[in-house]
Amino acid sequence: MDAPAPRITSGKLQEDDLALDTTLRPRRLEEFIGQEKIKDNLSISIAAAQQRGEPLDHLLLYGPPGLGKTTLAHIIAHEMSVSVRVTSGPAIERAGDLAAILTNLQESDILFIDEVHRLPRAAEEVLYPAMEDFALDIVLGRGPGARSVRLSVPRFTLIGATTRYAMLSPPLRDRFGAVYRLDFYDGVAIAAIVRRSAGLLGVASEDEGTDEIARRSRGTPRVVNRLLRRVRDYAQVRAEGVITSEVAREALARLEIDELGLDEVDHKVLRTIIEKFDGGPVGIETIAASISEEADTIMDVYEPYLMQVGFLQRTPRGRVATRHAYGHLGLEAPPQLQQRLLE
Ligand SMILES: Nc1ncnc2c1ncn2[C@@H]1O[C@H](COP(=O)(O)OP(=O)(O)OP(=O)(O)O)[C@@H](O)[C@H]1O
Ligand SMILES: [Mg+2]
Repeated sequence: MDAPAPRITSGKLQEDDLALDTTLRPRRLEEFIGQEKIKDNLSISIAAAQQRGEPLDHLLLYGPPGLGKTTLAHIIAHEMSVSVRVTSGPAIERAGDLAAILTNLQESDILFIDEVHRLPRAAEEVLYPAMEDFALDIVLGRGPGARSVRLSVPRFTLIGATTRYAMLSPPLRDRFGAVYRLDFYDGVAIAAIVRRSAGLLGVASEDEGTDEIARRSRGTPRVVNRLLRRVRDYAQVRAEGVITSEVAREALARLEIDELGLDEVDHKVLRTIIEKFDGGPVGIETIAASISEEADTIMDVYEPYLMQVGFLQRTPRGRVATRHAYGHLGLEAPPQLQQRLLE
């Protein structure tokens, strides 16, 4: 079977995002739109660390794909005027890989580990003393004669990023000085992001046009940038290059994205729960199997937003469609769900 076409509404990084991501990526904290609480806390920690002449405390960024974790890691490096070394959990195969990276860092450098929940166990164990004491414990020899020596590593800052906070082992979680959860952006922030991007790309647009794109972007900067690019193409070919509200609406309708930014897969997820499983509860694996998607993709990409808009609930016995989901699909909710409304 062919791999499914990449979804335009998925926050996950796709190949053709790369150039766009780098062009549009904000470089300074003040250019970073939204996530005000995180920005506030970060700017205080950065200023304090700079005043003390110390590296920043280790920090963990988590949240759905495309919300700005990698962007923030680079911004922090820039604000601290230090270098950043980028790697990822799956790229580190053995403990020795990580030890080599750590010993090659410069004082105060940032080590950014993306998908930190996928670090192999042995590598994680190398991280514990490195994070706590800036030390590496190396075991020399084997068996009863083995002994361990401690090497020091430069004082560095670890920035971990993950879409799956729950999959992080508790000992690793506990070693981060700060944990920030990125949320979907609100309408005002996402509208500002798409306007900024349109400006940087030199696209002619009216605010009503960019607002229309913002509304359908699932509160996700990567998605809004991707939609902007597609609407720009449409505007160029069909509408003299200007993104007006009408142009945006026509272009987005062609992409089969509804007024809330939901696409075919979101609809399938909801319809499956409602039509095949009486509204749930139904397990995620069962949903995945009935629509031929990966359970992980549903959990990372679709479910967070469906929960955010209140269409889906996670219960101990499985996923449940809410009466808002019925309403959005133009279906009548069963009496027990309507009853809940009256209670
Ligand atoms: N606050 C923001 N303001 C403006 N643009 C942003 C903001 N956050 C993210 N972006 C844009 O969205 C793109 C995606 O962000 P980024 O790569 O940092 O997401 P991520 O959380 O690391 O995603 P993943 O989980 O896939 O690694 C960036 O390249 C940038 O262009
Ligand atoms: Mg990233």
